[in-house]
Amino acid sequence: MGGVPYLQYDGPVLDEATVAGVADVLRSGQLTSGPWVRTFEAALSAFCDGRPVRALTSATAAVEVALQLCGIGPGDEVITSAQSFFTVPNMIVKVGAKPVFVDCDLITRNIDLAAVEAAITPRTRAIVPTHWPGSLVDMDALHALARRRGLRVIEDAALVLGSRWRGRNVGAFGDLVTFSFHPNKNITSIEGGALVVNDDDEARRVEPLRFHGIIPLPDRTRDVAFPGGKFNLPDVNARIGAAQLARLPEFLARRRALVDRYVERFATDPACVLPPRPEGDDGQSWNMWSVLLPLDRLTMTRKAFRDALDARGIGSGVSYEALHLTTLGRRFGYREGDFPVAERIARETVTLPLHAALTAADVDRVCAACAGILAAARR
Ligand SMILES: Cc1ncc(COP(=O)(O)O)c(C=O)c1O
Repeated sequence: MGGVPYLQYDGPVLDEATVAGVADVLRSGQLTSGPWVRTFEAALSAFCDGRPVRALTSATAAVEVALQLCGIGPGDEVITSAQSFFTVPNMIVKVGAKPVFVDCDLITRNIDLAAVEAAITPRTRAIVPTHWPGSLVDMDALHALARRRGLRVIEDAALVLGSRWRGRNVGAFGDLVTFSFHPNKNITSIEGGALVVNDDDEARRVEPLRFHGIIPLPDRTRDVAFPGGKFNLPDVNARIGAAQLARLPEFLARRRALVDRYVERFATDPACVLPPRPEGDDGQSWNMWSVLLPLDRLTMTRKAFRDALDARGIGSGVSYEALHLTTLGRRFGYREGDFPVAERIARETVTLPLHAALTAADVDRVCAACAGILAAARR
């Protein structure tokens, strides 16, 4: 690309102090879960107003453990959005339960709570919504509905670490909450995730679920009563995660400034559908900037658009495919047309570069490329 750097659509910022800190952990001889996991968990717990938090190897592991903690299994139904990453339905099916999909909002992409209520049956055990960057699920309505109908809530907060609801961090209240520290999230531990639970009893019950089902006995031997997972986070990852968490406000401010720039500069003809507009100090975090292409007014496909971005040195993603139309989703009887909004998003969405290492000039470059590609493909 003639010296112009390729813009990844995601990417972590790792400082030299963190690199040195990892070297210290490697030299310490403490390679798997140890003191840094406890430090990271304590920092996450402080972030969640003192609620207990347990670190795991991914948010996917955290969702699986959360479902198990709720005792969800065969015969149970779990309601979730047809627009999200594959994690939630995968884990619902993995524990033996049935995923019940509902549609979402076109702009916020959050789950439709009226559709959730309509989908509740006597077998429903939990609601697992994904919060979207730029706009949280209405937490008052979500938790009131769950209380009224006697359901558990597992918030998939993978994309919204640092978002606030009525001044409180996501994770500081509610029921069970899961976070991801994958490199494309607001902070990273390379791979990693966390589960926020309600009390010490639940935190104790996470231990065997994340480590082989092992229960230590007073005579220093061990018992296993069920086949637990192997989801303990290594100290190297926890060291990185702890350093990253300390920089979260800075990362979020950078992402927000870049989103403000996108809002100011993103003008295409024909017009794309844009994410919700950020408003002042609205408490929202911005993990991604995804637009909907006006495909019915273009002579090009989404793939051709993404290929054209690629040719200009700009990466992009699809967030996300419609979950009910995957081979797995169809196995539960779902078909095209079941959730029109989720399906439209799945067809038209493109995630553009957004991460804390980007500059305003990078955003301008993306905006100019999108405008140019779309103008040339106008019907
Ligand atoms: C919305 C959402 N939930 C859950 C996950 C799973 O995160 P992890 O990779 O830590 O398992 C992701 C990952 O991209 C995600 O985007």
